[in-house]
Amino acid sequence: MSPNKTIHLTVNGVHYERTVEPRLLLVDFLRDVLDLTGTHIGCEHGVCGACTVLVDGRSMRSCLLFAIQLEGSMIETVESLGTVDKLHPLQESFREYHALQCGFCTPGMLMTGIDLLRTKTLATDEEIRDGLSGNLCRCTGYEHIVAAIRATAKSRKEIT
Ligand code: FES
Ligand code: FES
Repeated sequence: MSPNKTIHLTVNGVHYERTVEPRLLLVDFLRDVLDLTGTHIGCEHGVCGACTVLVDGRSMRSCLLFAIQLEGSMIETVESLGTVDKLHPLQESFREYHALQCGFCTPGMLMTGIDLLRTKTLATDEEIRDGLSGNLCRCTGYEHIVAAIRATAKSRKEIT
């Protein structure tokens, strides 16, 4: 087995230096090394989108990246959004529009939604649906998730 490597990266504004096995996936690094369990593991092969996080501002699947590939990167996970007492505007819309049921897909949906809100006009539902096409939800039928993102895009609340 290859020797462990030391990596330096920023997660949710906090700088970390950790020594990890080269085979460690980013999703496992977040959950098991940093104890950030908000990012979920679903299919583990790039299909479901449950593990979506932002890497240097763009949504990516953390089950398809090795942690050692992220040297020097800035990662944002669902924990970077709001708190129970002060939800992020997109989380508030998810609550208001009942955009989740079991909640398993929700962290990935939220982080994909943040990427879309930051980078797209989201002027049409088609654009929202296209942007969400890599995230699977087995519960909601997607209508309420689209509605929540549409409402956030329309309100133009500050998206950070
Ligand atoms: S767990 Fe990564 S895409 Fe499904
Ligand atoms: S809310 Fe259950 S998978 Fe989306």
